[in-house]
Amino acid sequence: ALSTQALAGEGEVVVIAHRGASAQAPENTLAAVDLADELGFDWIENDVQRTKDDVLVVIHDTDLKRTTDVEEVFPGRAPWKVRDFTADEIAQLDAGSWKGGAHAGARVPTLREFLHRLDANGQRLLLEIKAPEQYPGIEKDVLEVLSQEQWLDRRHLRNRLVVQSFSAASVRAVHDARPDVRTGFLGTPEPADLGSYASFTDQINPRSTTLTAAYVASVHALDGPHGRPLEVNTWTVNDPEEARRAARTGVDGIITNAPDVVEEALGQD
Ligand code: G3P
Ligand code: CA
Repeated sequence: ALSTQALAGEGEVVVIAHRGASAQAPENTLAAVDLADELGFDWIENDVQRTKDDVLVVIHDTDLKRTTDVEEVFPGRAPWKVRDFTADEIAQLDAGSWKGGAHAGARVPTLREFLHRLDANGQRLLLEIKAPEQYPGIEKDVLEVLSQEQWLDRRHLRNRLVVQSFSAASVRAVHDARPDVRTGFLGTPEPADLGSYASFTDQINPRSTTLTAAYVASVHALDGPHGRPLEVNTWTVNDPEEARRAARTGVDGIITNAPDVVEEALGQD
């Protein structure tokens, strides 16, 4: 059971909770991880960036405005870039209220906190290195935290961890530093170029609007760096009909804000 496909039932599509169960809970928070767990989903996607004092934190946007109250807490610190704030400052922010009063008090988790919660819940992580061009050397930092938190042990490497990025250079850097870590490339490379990707990535993860059955087949035809066929996880699919269409193209996984909706649409629940 080395692949995400093998971890689902026979013929089933793996449903991955995008930023946690982020349709209902504030994205990239421990609450969104816990809600996914309660709904019965173990694969979580997240986004990792780095603070001014070199702490890895889990947040999607490269600024803090949309998902926290940073403008009220730190007025005058525009443009509120993640990389311009310390971890202690970010820990003071409310990352839940924007999603509704019931979520007030949710925090921007550190990667360490996030990994601890996933371990406690028995969950798995599709970790996205977000905007690596803004964080030189972040691949090494991510691998160091993963190592310190025991996420590079055999059990995690086999079936609990994939590291992905939109940056091929970043994916390649992770693969070169730790060839035993499974990796994913976010995007839709030209079929003619897939062979070179297969030397450093185990997954090709395309935007759903670019998906065709022929493309998925051309990805599956190649073996990745671990000697198994490349996998395909598509994003971000929240609509039931779009989920069924994606499944018909033969994808291995669907990354969604609403895992319960997609699971039901696919008749898998
Ligand atoms: O995991 C795929 C998806 O998260 C990529 O786009 O912008 O939501 O990080 P984005
Ligand atoms: Ca992401």
